Amino acid sequence: PPSLDTVARAKGMRFGSAVAWRPRNSEAYEVALPLDAALLDRECGILVPENEMKWVALRPSPTRFSFVRFDAMLAYAEANGIAMRGHTLLWHQPKWMPRWANEYDFGANPRAEGERLLVEHVRTVCERYGARVGAYDVVNETVNPADGGLYDTALSRAIGGTEATVDLAFRTARAAAPHAQLVYNDYMSWEPGNERHRAGVLRLLEGFRRRGTPVDALGVQSHLITQGSDGPGALQLQRDWRAFLDAVVAMEYKLVITELDVRDNNLPADIAVRDRAVADYTRAYLDVMFSYPQLRDVLVWGMSDRYSWIEGFEPRPDGAPRRPTVYDAQFRPKPMRAAIADAFAAA
Ligand code: G3I
Repeated sequence: PPSLDTVARAKGMRFGSAVAWRPRNSEAYEVALPLDAALLDRECGILVPENEMKWVALRPSPTRFSFVRFDAMLAYAEANGIAMRGHTLLWHQPKWMPRWANEYDFGANPRAEGERLLVEHVRTVCERYGARVGAYDVVNETVNPADGGLYDTALSRAIGGTEATVDLAFRTARAAAPHAQLVYNDYMSWEPGNERHRAGVLRLLEGFRRRGTPVDALGVQSHLITQGSDGPGALQLQRDWRAFLDAVVAMEYKLVITELDVRDNNLPADIAVRDRAVADYTRAYLDVMFSYPQLRDVLVWGMSDRYSWIEGFEPRPDGAPRRPTVYDAQFRPKPMRAAIADAFAAA
């Protein structure tokens, strides 16, 4: 069958995936192509680094940058004619900043030092890659889903507020990478229980527009959890989700699906049943998303169950392996693949 990117391109869209360099053993980190490289070549028109562009990967210390892993990844993509997006210039939560940044001594003028550190980071990355990276998740997950408020970090306390901090990240990115699509990326989703998270994201997006912060798109991560895709509950979920997306596009943001995968939490262990449910849920979700012409790029968070982050994050209670991605652990296509292809064809 034609690749997922080929079916996407027929509709003026693109399909891609996150990619990670895997350690070959627990002792030494070795730059190695994941075993699913053939899948990436075959199916994807765009890639994003799963971890290799985060501060924790790029910034071993306040004075050093380490580009070796992402450089190799970008070279691989370019050699295969695949585009690259960047993730992420600022994951604005203490938990995901490097330890040195949380313990950093900002000195006598914390604001100036905080701004210097952030501007240096964003500028160094953006200027190094220039037009080779076409989009950036400039800021990732700074809205607290529990109350819709904004997280703060040692960095934002030094700078004097989270809004000022994320604005500075975007303004610096725009100046250093004027060609790039600048994205705010978060995991608010259509499942019930996400209301406060969505409201907080809308407030943040409104603030960007009010202050003239250069943000082009909302990254809709799309780490989904199957709920059953018919019945009145599903309809309500779709109505609420559409209301959210309508509000986002009314503010003239584009949309990007940045990290799609689907967890089946409450289904019996029968693999055929689980895979069918995941495929149907994916299709229902993409049909809604594809009704928005503001959406062009669709990226999954890994092509194969073999490497999915979900297994380590939330194993199934019954111990059965997770199956949240497009290909199984032996790199065989699952019904989710056909669901995505069909959704593109119907778009
Ligand atoms: O590489 C080391 C390994 O050497 C060490 O033995 C092991 C022990 O903990 O850790 C390994 O690093 C882990 C790394 O993934 C690579 O596997 C980190 O602990 C772990 O925290 C890290 O998790 C990543 C997570 O972001 C945090 O950065 C996941 O792979 C990655 O899928 C996940 O991606 C995020 C997006 O960036 C933002 N949206 C949500 C998404 C899922 O959480």
